[in-house]
Amino acid sequence: MLENIKNVFIAGAGVMGSSMAQLFAKYGFQVAVYDVSEQAVVKSRELTEVNLGAAVETGRMSAQEAQTIRSGIEYTQDPQDFARADYVVEAIIENMEIKKQFWSQISAIVPPAAILTSNTSGLSLTEMAQAVQLPERFCGMHWLNPPHICPLIEVIRAEKTDEQTLETVRAMAQAIHHFPVTLNREVPGFLINRFQFAILREAMSLVEAGVASMEDIDNVFKYGLGLRYACLGPFEIADLGGLDTFYKIASYLFADLSNTGEVHALLSDHYHNNEFGVKSGKGYYDYADGRDKEMIAYRDKMFLKVSDCLYGDLNGAGEGDH
Ligand SMILES: NC(=O)c1ccc[n+]([C@@H]2O[C@H](COP(=O)([O-])OP(=O)(O)OC[C@H]3O[C@@H](n4cnc5c(N)ncnc54)[C@H](O)[C@@H]3O)[C@@H](O)[C@H]2O)c1
Repeated sequence: MLENIKNVFIAGAGVMGSSMAQLFAKYGFQVAVYDVSEQAVVKSRELTEVNLGAAVETGRMSAQEAQTIRSGIEYTQDPQDFARADYVVEAIIENMEIKKQFWSQISAIVPPAAILTSNTSGLSLTEMAQAVQLPERFCGMHWLNPPHICPLIEVIRAEKTDEQTLETVRAMAQAIHHFPVTLNREVPGFLINRFQFAILREAMSLVEAGVASMEDIDNVFKYGLGLRYACLGPFEIADLGGLDTFYKIASYLFADLSNTGEVHALLSDHYHNNEFGVKSGKGYYDYADGRDKEMIAYRDKMFLKVSDCLYGDLNGAGEGDH
């Protein structure tokens, strides 16, 4: 299915696109990164150098492998280059009108057999597909940040996507050692954000009701649920726990869980005070006096430890399971 795919084009040389480029090049694809901004292209090259340098320094990658990746990525600002594209990942700014303009132009340039995907975080793919010529070859391919470490990819069917396109995108995800999951139709938030925000809603409700502190709720995930969910999904956990027990608990608990449609004050108050979390130095916690950088360093260190342990191959540090 992938035998005809050699040239992968990534549109958008930002946070996501730069990291994706590295990954496709690592698994042998010829990669072209396209952006309208020259400055973005310069920054993307620099970011790739930083990432490759760190990988070599920490022994995650050999200097030769880093060089192979480097030479497998070219940069362009010429949309006509898409005439060589076999596979496109669009990771440009999250704006429907700009994405539609992009797709209207690019889908007329790419060969008819090219597979076309968007990394939108939540814009309607069916609406975006209205701008795509031959929309049956278009679907969502939603990655998690940073794509070269997080192994999940959501593959989302838009109204006109055909089965062969979905199969090719799933095969591509596997070829770059990622795990695809499929959404047979698009829903707001796809899968990841529906779960993430269902948890946040319940967590905020419990804090607002004075049941537990934010710190203790964060600890429930770090030392309990997070460990479980790193290895098992909710259906596997229920099977292990016993469906008779889960049925009895669900019977009295579901009615008590938060189902509010309102955004809690615990989020909107911070938002309206420009307290955006780590990026602004204050959010639920205080990140003054360098604690912002400490938090990011802590996250990256712990995340890589878990990722190395479970999926070492992804980081070039071991064999991993897939
Ligand atoms: N950052 C994340 O955590 C994350 C996670 C999943 C999905 N996404 C999605 O991925 C996409 C990109 O996000 P990002 O964080 O990398 O953004 P970013 O702002 O870092 O990069 C976007 C890039 O797109 C370029 N661009 C803008 N208009 C363009 C055009 N018409 N043609 C070509 N390039 C253009 C910009 O110059 C910029 O370099 C968005 O749709 C976003 O919602 C982001």
